[in-house]
Amino acid sequence: MRITLTQPDDWHLHLREGIQMPSVLAATSRCFRRAIVMPNLKPAITTVNQALAYREQIVAALPANSSFNPLMTLYLTENMPVTEIGKLKDSEHVFAVKYYPAKATTNSEKGVVDIRRVWAIFEAMQDYDIPLLIHGEVTADSIDIFDRERVFIEEILDPLMEHFPSLRIVLEHITTKDAVEYVAIANDNLAATITAHHLLLNRNDIFKGGINPHHYCLPILKAERHRQALLKAATSGNPKFFLGTDSAPHALSAKESACGCAGIYSAPAALELYAEAFEQAEALDKLEGFASFYGADFYRLPRNTETVTLEKRTWQMPNDFEFGKEKVVPFRAGQAIAWQLR
Ligand code: NCD
Ligand code: ZN
Repeated sequence: MRITLTQPDDWHLHLREGIQMPSVLAATSRCFRRAIVMPNLKPAITTVNQALAYREQIVAALPANSSFNPLMTLYLTENMPVTEIGKLKDSEHVFAVKYYPAKATTNSEKGVVDIRRVWAIFEAMQDYDIPLLIHGEVTADSIDIFDRERVFIEEILDPLMEHFPSLRIVLEHITTKDAVEYVAIANDNLAATITAHHLLLNRNDIFKGGINPHHYCLPILKAERHRQALLKAATSGNPKFFLGTDSAPHALSAKESACGCAGIYSAPAALELYAEAFEQAEALDKLEGFASFYGADFYRLPRNTETVTLEKRTWQMPNDFEFGKEKVVPFRAGQAIAWQLR
């Protein structure tokens, strides 16, 4: 069996930088035409000039003849001047601002502590119609890790939406039934990305056969009923839900450690993994809208015109890939993948 789709885009991706980038970039550019590139480098990408320099680095590391187009983002800090939003608006390569609550995830130390301090930025973004991308988790130690997304929606997102009804927002990598329900009934300015790993795994997979650091990501995997809700949303044909892998490579030594980093590296089989999830839900006919249309429409970019073809044929994911001087372990390392990109 084969399916042909309009070439997809990845609306949430970590490419890293320097010598770690080439293999990661090749994994994404073999399949996706465009990707929204996350700015959580060290130091973070907080200005348009830095984003453009990072973009040049990405373009220089692309495989020959690639037509992959990296869409850049800025990392929101409480010190961002409002004038930066004007610069972003005038830039043809920077598309969005990413909001990380301080300490929510990898390299988010410089994130926002008090959302009130970035109100003027949101006002400017709303005026200029620039999308805000949100890592939607509260970070207080008192909140259970499995509840952090739900509490964020209640305490931060809902008041934010009320205050900025015209601000376009992407709630990134949603993981709960609560998020699915909130996004579905919210106004059309709110959309959400969903990862392949949150469609395929539940929280038991973190502990199956012993603790598995390669299944540790943020937001953390949730219970099966949440996975079912995500699968239903992704395959519903509702354009508010679209593809964002959150492919987040870390060196093997940083994952297999006493204090392992969060992030799942799914890029080497990203579209193939989504196909598995959609097949599981008997909804392969809904994959193209989710992977290739709705994200572009939300970002007000043209849909791609090339196509890609997936074949139902099992292959084995390698155990690891080059990652600068180290190795990176992909999702499903050494295991079978049911679909193959032609
Ligand atoms: C991401 C990373 O490693 O940069 N990690 C993750 O678990 N998803 C950061 C993020 O998107 O939260
Ligand atoms: Zn991410």
